[in-house]
Amino acid sequence: MRTKIIIGNWKMNKTRQEAHDTVAAFTELVKNVDGVEFGFCPPFVYLAELASSSSISIGFGAQDVFWAGSGAFTGFTSVAMLQDIGAKYAIIGHSERRGRFGKLEVPASTVGSFAETDETVNLKLKACLAGGIVPIVCCGETLAEREAGNTDSVIATQIAGALDGIVEADMGPLVIAYEPVWAIGTGKVCDSAEANRVCAMIRGCLPASIQATTRIQYGGSVNPGNARELFSMPDIDGGLVGGASLKAEDFAQVVLAAV
Ligand code: 13P
Repeated sequence: MRTKIIIGNWKMNKTRQEAHDTVAAFTELVKNVDGVEFGFCPPFVYLAELASSSSISIGFGAQDVFWAGSGAFTGFTSVAMLQDIGAKYAIIGHSERRGRFGKLEVPASTVGSFAETDETVNLKLKACLAGGIVPIVCCGETLAEREAGNTDSVIATQIAGALDGIVEADMGPLVIAYEPVWAIGTGKVCDSAEANRVCAMIRGCLPASIQATTRIQYGGSVNPGNARELFSMPDIDGGLVGGASLKAEDFAQVVLAAV
């Protein structure tokens, strides 16, 4: 039986005080919740203090990580640094970092600044697995890719690229998040049966020995109204939640929908 995992990705939101207030309010609402894993990925600047202030089993994680151990890499954060501050997770390869920045209105000339690729995802995944940080690897198709009938092949390529050269025995902590780009922040949630179908397809892309144990989340407009149906699907093992994780009450309801 896979323990469901619900992670709030705050993206670039909240002041320092709002961050603390949200975690404090959420803590009150979920302090007696059992049998589900949950946490937040706040902006880096708040991560260390939130990770060290939590009184219950809320896991904290980073929205990105770099693969090198240390050195002249201006602006980046290593797996060892995440370990050092008590972080548990790192999101890798979110569509908002995969080249299009998730937003087609961003001019092509700036795309290089955000151009996460399957190769960088692979390097970051290896670093997390070697360094004891739980990797949450994001994959998902754009609307154009879906409409062209390429959903499964796009995602299979992303998964193969992410896992390239990693031996099965090291993949234990891996978490995958299926996040259709067209469902992120749009209010257009993916139909639960279709989300489940894609998550099962992703499971089938994994080495046989980890298929039954690897947790695969759905992300994209998850909210208190649709979470229970999504999380009741057999191949959906929780959620990666953006907007609905910003309010303690909403996120607590999403977590409770997984119990
Ligand atoms: P929304 O829940 O706001 O659609 O964001 C999903 C997401 O991108 C989480 O990583």
